[in-house]
Amino acid sequence: MKFDATGLGALNMDQLHMVDRIAGPDEETFVSGFIESCGGSAANTIIGLSRLGMRTACTGKVSDDREGALLRENLRSEGVADHVAVSGSGRSGRVMGFVDPEGSRALYVDPGVNDSLRLHEIPDEALETRLLHLTSFAGEGLRVQREVLEVIDGSVTVSLDPGHLYAVRSREISGILEGTDILLTNQRELEIMTGHTDPARAAEELGPDMVVMKMGAGGVRAWNGREVHVPALKVKCRDSTGAGDAFNAGFLYAWMKGHGLEVSCRFGNYLASRCIQGYGATGSLPGQEALRVLEEYAVDDG
Ligand SMILES: Nc1ncnc2c1ncn2[C@@H]1O[C@H](COP(=O)(O)OP(=O)(O)OP(=O)(O)O)[C@@H](O)[C@H]1O
Ligand SMILES: [Mg+2]
Repeated sequence: MKFDATGLGALNMDQLHMVDRIAGPDEETFVSGFIESCGGSAANTIIGLSRLGMRTACTGKVSDDREGALLRENLRSEGVADHVAVSGSGRSGRVMGFVDPEGSRALYVDPGVNDSLRLHEIPDEALETRLLHLTSFAGEGLRVQREVLEVIDGSVTVSLDPGHLYAVRSREISGILEGTDILLTNQRELEIMTGHTDPARAAEELGPDMVVMKMGAGGVRAWNGREVHVPALKVKCRDSTGAGDAFNAGFLYAWMKGHGLEVSCRFGNYLASRCIQGYGATGSLPGQEALRVLEEYAVDDG
């Protein structure tokens, strides 16, 4: 296989505006600061895996605008193979955030060209991978993911983090869930999808062999034939953006390297803890020095 992991989901530029207060209809307020960073859940997780030393690729769609160029350049600078399709028209995906001094946020998602991705725009090479990691699209992109699952080699492990966007589209994603080996959700999303928060029952009802439920500071519960509950690390949280994506990177890395469920959850929690102690989704994700921690966990596990 050419890659250890390939990501497929919406690619967005995150544009965060600091405002004195969040404006209501017909009101105006002021912007006092602006931060822009490359986002997209699948890309965040793939960048985490690349920093740990995996051979990675990302696919999806951007436009030939400034944001699209930055998103692709960011992937390449992280050592991720760029298999992103580029549209000659339209806008790249953006998430515009407005955050007030109390930390309350308003988010506006502009999916742009993300959902216009078609199967023929994904090079075969991108799908020559041991792991395919799927995250949400806002609209039609779901269809391409279903088509990809029909054409990929049966030996590819498929992981899915539905996020809130897909959790509320449970019916529509049933075709994807059938092809999913590893389902990674947070507690609220699992409850939306199943009406309960029991990973074992969820695995039986939804199809994947493995269900991992992230619970913020409460750590994680996971099931694949047996259940584990692994507490989170006690750290000071500065910014929880991307915590779930960082968890996925640590978990999937350990699992793909043959570690057990508990060790994989611990390493997921570790990567998430590194993420939330800094700012942004990938800014404080570690490099290969973090593998020493994984080795320690594996020794503890006997
Ligand atoms: N306050 C915290 N202290 C320690 N660890 C945390 C904290 N918040 C989150 N984490 C870690 O991050 C992981 C993922 O967080 P969470 O359960 O919020 O996922 P999520 O809702 O999918 O995140 P995201 O909003 O990034 O998608 C947790 O399983 C835990 O390891
Ligand atoms: Mg999440």
